Amino acid sequence: MTAVVDTPTHKIAPGAALAALEAGDFSGPILLQSLLLRDEQQERLFALARQRREACFPARKVEVRSVIEVSNVCRQRCNYCSIGAKADRHAYTIRYEDFLELADHLYEKGRRVLLIQSGENAAQEFVDHVARCVAGLTERHPDMVQILCIGNLDPEQYRQLKQAGADRYIMKFETSNAALYERWKPRDTLANRLACLESLLDLGYQVGSGNMIGLPGQSVEDLVSDLQLLGRYPLAMASCTVFIPGEESNYRDEPMGDLDLTVNLLALIRILFPDRLIPTTSSLEKAQRGGQYRGLMAGANTVTIHDGTPDRLKHLFPIYSSRRFAPPDEHIAAIVKKAHLTFAPGALR
Ligand code: 5AD
Repeated sequence: MTAVVDTPTHKIAPGAALAALEAGDFSGPILLQSLLLRDEQQERLFALARQRREACFPARKVEVRSVIEVSNVCRQRCNYCSIGAKADRHAYTIRYEDFLELADHLYEKGRRVLLIQSGENAAQEFVDHVARCVAGLTERHPDMVQILCIGNLDPEQYRQLKQAGADRYIMKFETSNAALYERWKPRDTLANRLACLESLLDLGYQVGSGNMIGLPGQSVEDLVSDLQLLGRYPLAMASCTVFIPGEESNYRDEPMGDLDLTVNLLALIRILFPDRLIPTTSSLEKAQRGGQYRGLMAGANTVTIHDGTPDRLKHLFPIYSSRRFAPPDEHIAAIVKKAHLTFAPGALR
């Protein structure tokens, strides 16, 4: 018997959902049903996503990024995150000279896309420091694309960083549900987050956004709204991570997010917004071995390699979990090959 899911307005068989997606019907009930596809139907969803990826990126290339986690100082206290959870964690900020040395090393290794990540710290002194790092790197390696992921700042600070040479900014909205947002991120509001996202777009950054899947209180309907919110902005990048209950975070006892829902959402992002850059994040691999490969098969086209932050600092930036899982270069190379893709020599857009 064919499984049928009840929604308030429709009953849709899985095959019908796929046909509707192919025909460009992205209405709420179709998206909801598509999130629930499993087994053979799920494989067909992924095949459609790959077809859309190949139409926009015919060279079958994957963008490779390195990441430098420039500081773990954070003014937020997000319930899902371990970084701010431990009051006595050693605070670090990578010095200007050290940053340039790390970036030089990555450049020599062939990297042309760098993700600069940190806790959220709007102190002008810190923003000045990051702007100096960005400007120094721009001067030495003008062809290195620089992506910032450093949180909510003032429009003036975003302008300063853009002028220093930053190209892109990742500002995930995490959830489109304002009540959930404030439950997960008690020191922030969704309205404030979206205002930041809009000011980044106004300034001409290539902007990325996205959500997390499987946090407490979140429903499948919320994920449909997340997809719809992703369509409201002209984004260059979109990403979804599966919730990992970090053992030092306030949500340590909550169940991990559902990987199938996450990869289906990734496939839907590709089908709805085929020209965006979509990462297969290490959270997928942390959730389940082979998870990152599934992300590529569901339509992702960027990977991040954790070869920028010095080993002695990595444990001080416990983004998903303090027993941090950073897939090694060889693992990333192997899954890219297995997915019949190759590394792009530089940025994909
Ligand atoms: N599980 C899954 N994703 C997470 N992120 C942060 N902590 C977690 C977690 N425990 C994601 C958020 C954040 C990005 C840097 O990583 O989406 O914006």
